[in-house]
Amino acid sequence: MKNPTQILKNRYIRKGQLEKSNVLEPVVEKSKDSITKKYNFDGKVVIVTGASSGIGKACAFEFAKKGAKVVLAARREFELKKLVDQIAILGGEASYLKTDVKLINDCKLLIDYTIQKYGRIDVLVNNAGISMRASFEELDLSVIKNLMDTNFYGTVYCTKFALPYLLERKGTVIGVSSISGLVPLPGRTGYCASKHAMDGFLNTLRIENMRKGLNVLVVHPGFTISNIRNTALNKYGNPQKETPRNEAEMMSAEKVAQIILKSTLKRDRSRVLTMQGKLVVWLYKNFPGITDRLILNEMAKESHAPV
Ligand SMILES: NC(=O)c1ccc[n+]([C@@H]2O[C@H](COP(=O)([O-])OP(=O)(O)OC[C@H]3O[C@@H](n4cnc5c(N)ncnc54)[C@H](OP(=O)(O)O)[C@@H]3O)[C@@H](O)[C@H]2O)c1
Repeated sequence: MKNPTQILKNRYIRKGQLEKSNVLEPVVEKSKDSITKKYNFDGKVVIVTGASSGIGKACAFEFAKKGAKVVLAARREFELKKLVDQIAILGGEASYLKTDVKLINDCKLLIDYTIQKYGRIDVLVNNAGISMRASFEELDLSVIKNLMDTNFYGTVYCTKFALPYLLERKGTVIGVSSISGLVPLPGRTGYCASKHAMDGFLNTLRIENMRKGLNVLVVHPGFTISNIRNTALNKYGNPQKETPRNEAEMMSAEKVAQIILKSTLKRDRSRVLTMQGKLVVWLYKNFPGITDRLILNEMAKESHAPV
């Protein structure tokens, strides 16, 4: 039986006749006397946390399509297993480890597992995250703890254990932050705090490792279609199980993943996504007082808004 990776790689020749999402697109590098075809991430190893859904799942597909061996981490093992199989059917290579990023030991095991299996780490995508929706006045404090443990400490733990291997490869640490890492979002105190903390941590890590060739990319998605609003915690710490916004108007997780992949290749330092996101970041930097009111008015329009 033919190797499925090879089959997909050969099929790019007929790429015009195939559905784009099923094709490993080659980069064609022209030199003076030859044309070589290269997959950007051939042989590279990429870890994606929060790979069972949304942006993380889309990143896993994007990196695998470009030739990377992808290691998937999240708590829902069944979803991870399904994704590994889907990537294999497309001719890519993936494996998974059930991981709760709140737990230091799980993060250590994830890195150990990756090194044992593949011997290297080129890219770490710190994407696992949860959100919340409640006013601070009514909020049970355990919600803020949970958000900091997942979004901030999950990033810190995975990065700490992966750092020596990333430095060996002059690789990339990615943090999937949020527009809320740059501007305030009422009803999401814990979420904003965790994303601001992530930004401060990663921006400082970048400077510390500047001379060692490490790249640190902080991505700030705007509203993106995913499960995040369904799992967002209410004031008691339970998932709210609904989305208060029109998901159809948002950027797709696939688009976010494509931007992350391109930015990784370009070794960008940060990306702010969506027109709305770029506008609000600019407004907040230049007119913070007015922008506070604009943000509040916008968020107060949500159904059952807590503010
Ligand atoms: N969607 C948006 O509008 C938006 C905007 C800006 C930023 N972001 C950020 O994008 C990232 C991905 O979110 P998403 O929108 O794709 O939401 P999502 O569909 O809910 O995905 C979140 C992922 O994080 C994982 N996760 C949550 N807690 C975890 C834990 N303790 N340990 C390991 N994995 C955990 C979930 O997997 P399990 O439940 O299986 O563990 C899931 O795979 C988050 O950091 C989020 O803050 C999202």
